[in-house]
Amino acid sequence: MLRPWQVSLGDRIDSARDVPIYMQIIQALIRDIERGRLTSGTYLPSSRELAQILGVNRKTVVIAYEDLIAQGWLDSAGTRGTMVASALPDPVRRHQGEAEVTMSTAAIDYRFASPPDRPLALPSGPGLKLDEGAPDGRLFPAELLARAYRVATHRASRDNGFQYRDPRGSPALRESIATMLKSQRGLPVTAENICITRGSQNGIFLAAHTLICPGDSVIVEELTYEPAVAAFRALGANILPVGLDEDGIDIDAVELACRRNAVRAVFVTPHHQFPTTVSLRPERRLRLLELARQFGFAIIEDDYDHEFHFESQPLLPMAGYGPGLVIYVGSLSKLLLPALRIGYVAAPPPVIDAIAHMVSLTDGMGNTLTEDAAAELIENGELRRHARKVRQIYAKRRGDFAAEIDRTLGGIADYRMPDGGLAFWLRFDTDLDQMEARAAAVGLRFASSRSFMTRDSAPRGLRIGFASLNQHEARTALAALREAAG
Ligand SMILES: Cc1ncc(COP(=O)(O)O)c(C=O)c1O
Repeated sequence: MLRPWQVSLGDRIDSARDVPIYMQIIQALIRDIERGRLTSGTYLPSSRELAQILGVNRKTVVIAYEDLIAQGWLDSAGTRGTMVASALPDPVRRHQGEAEVTMSTAAIDYRFASPPDRPLALPSGPGLKLDEGAPDGRLFPAELLARAYRVATHRASRDNGFQYRDPRGSPALRESIATMLKSQRGLPVTAENICITRGSQNGIFLAAHTLICPGDSVIVEELTYEPAVAAFRALGANILPVGLDEDGIDIDAVELACRRNAVRAVFVTPHHQFPTTVSLRPERRLRLLELARQFGFAIIEDDYDHEFHFESQPLLPMAGYGPGLVIYVGSLSKLLLPALRIGYVAAPPPVIDAIAHMVSLTDGMGNTLTEDAAAELIENGELRRHARKVRQIYAKRRGDFAAEIDRTLGGIADYRMPDGGLAFWLRFDTDLDQMEARAAAVGLRFASSRSFMTRDSAPRGLRIGFASLNQHEARTALAALREAAG
């Protein structure tokens, strides 16, 4: 019996690792076969022998051998033992020598979508984080969420609801969202106009996918939400930045851009402009809709934090008076929790069907249980109660935060009290590049002022969320920001 293979698995099997032993044996044997150390026809030690050598249970080796036989790496030669399969291709990675196989490098020429020069989301890590307007996740009682999941789980089990289903999302949630949009935001919609998405980011991407072909022009404000722009760029869009002021996007600049380019879409956050927080004035909204009709572009209206408006009556979304021209994108991330990843798109049914088709191609159908749990929270009134509670808390935090900015950053930073949303837009008298460079040294993380800018001439500032921080945290973070300012 030919057994030239030196059993050298011992140093590669480690019971302290969190990979099961049988899996480690499988991985080590495959690696030896791939590298050509074990060649077709070579007999392996008997399971008893190998178990003894490795100091493991014989059953563990048997399971590993059986698995490798089932996968086609090994053949069983009956009473003569187990050998490396005869029909294996040439050692796949022999040319890689003895290098440890890891996922650290790409072995072929991938066509990476060009990633931006900084991560789109602030990486998690130690120290203080100033976000761009996230909610305080600690304020939603975990027990309420757990109960909603429990109800949704039992209901799905009873109704055979764990199956593949409509990519437009949970019927109950689509119904609830449509009712809410109609009664509270004046959108003329039914459930047929709604597709549930994984957050509004996913909604923006899917909406853009129904519109944009490589080379198409998309208008965005010179200060805007970078992940949306990155999504448009990933689809091959030609980005056209236009200016904005305290009344929102400059409509004359939009018109000029449309006269010079075939514009396919305009991306706006009219309720609370990201990052500056200003609302798009009514007359500008009407003119933008008029331009959409005239030049045949679609408006992607991102209404990511509609629920939080602290002054006067909020303006209704543009989708309410420009149906057919607007793809409306909303989210439960700010009202409920970002981690649930629930957003939605409201649009005419053919657009919804196209978006749903993309959902089928990408994640199949969304997340039934989470969507049904969210529908349960809407149905049982808990979400409404939560909204009422956090609106009060955030209103107070907004005032406290403003006072803290005055106290800590007065003299170097300027701001306008935001009417709504969960963030301040701060303009600085100090060198922002230096300040951003020093932030890490004082243990502070925040989005770079450049992340909002789609052109170099755009005004610079920082968007600082106030809602996720209690008073102590806000005070500490703003003091650190002051320190970074030098
Ligand atoms: C302007 C804007 N749009 C979209 C999003 C994406 O939110 P989500 O995907 O969690 O709904 C955010 C998140 O902060 C945002 O600020």
